[in-house]
Amino acid sequence: MQVQAFEAKLAETAKAVEMALDDILGSHKLVSGTPHRLLGAMRHGVLNGGKRLRPFLLLESAKLFGGDRAGALMAAVALECVHSYSLVHDDLPAMDDDDLRRGQPTVHKAYDEATAILAGDALLTLAFGLLAEIETATADKRVALVALLARRAGSPGMVGGQILDLAAETESLSELEIARMQAMKTGALISFACEAGAVLGTVSTEERAHMRRFGDVVGLAFQLADDLLDETANAATLGKAAGKDRGKGKKTLPALHGHGWTRDKLGDLVDEAEELLQPFGERGSLLAQAARFAATRTR
Ligand code: IPE
Ligand code: IPE
Ligand code: MG
Ligand code: MG
Ligand code: MG
Repeated sequence: MQVQAFEAKLAETAKAVEMALDDILGSHKLVSGTPHRLLGAMRHGVLNGGKRLRPFLLLESAKLFGGDRAGALMAAVALECVHSYSLVHDDLPAMDDDDLRRGQPTVHKAYDEATAILAGDALLTLAFGLLAEIETATADKRVALVALLARRAGSPGMVGGQILDLAAETESLSELEIARMQAMKTGALISFACEAGAVLGTVSTEERAHMRRFGDVVGLAFQLADDLLDETANAATLGKAAGKDRGKGKKTLPALHGHGWTRDKLGDLVDEAEELLQPFGERGSLLAQAARFAATRTR
């Protein structure tokens, strides 16, 4: 199965995730009573055509370890709420100051800054509620997922990475420091996807750590590709601004080492991801393709 077939699979998952998101943001008890404007902004931030790669990774990892689909879909929706909130806040004027996201005006443009901040807060909070309510998972598993997401999304993970990214606009960073920042701001949620899927199934501590490592590698490739695309693609294809990172002083590996080096590194990361999936044989094939997609994507 090659690129197009994989993209069709990803689109299928995206559809299922969007239907579940739409349902939850329409009628779930965790959102009932939400003021109309806030709900509109939350929907704008999350139901706007993302690639849904993190949900894909979570669902496929769960499948690998025998996790049930309904529970994994709920966890995938929770993760997409956190990811989307991170984008809503990332685009704010105080952060990356972007007007376009997923081909539409960013939430603070379509609404206003305060509403965008609050919509992000609400999506983040909703995610933990959804994890706590996964009906098909045991209480132990739900608690494990809540604790894991708190670490990956929080100050030692995504949020911590975001502050390093902003601070680095006016500092110089070594290759190692850039990789650490990427691992936190982007790798943490991607490795959550892979590890959480495993947690929902039947998994040993070693297997869980193995999936976390796989997620770390995919996360690194994903942000490296994002940084390369900022320099090589255009806004129409990406659905977000392009060619801004250098001007903003963002510290990226393509800026430090060039495009050839970055493409080589992406190739190495795909090889590493594939090696990590070797023990699963054919059953790991879709995850291997997802890793390749993360590295070679054009959007
Ligand atoms: C963009 O993530 C932000 C990064 C972590 C680089 P995606 O490229 O997954 O964005 P969507 O969800 O598809 O819009
Ligand atoms: C995004 O990094 C990281 C997040 C945690 C949201 P970027 O700032 O490069 O993401 P884009 O390019 O705006 O999607
Ligand atoms: Mg950013
Ligand atoms: Mg940004
Ligand atoms: Mg970027």
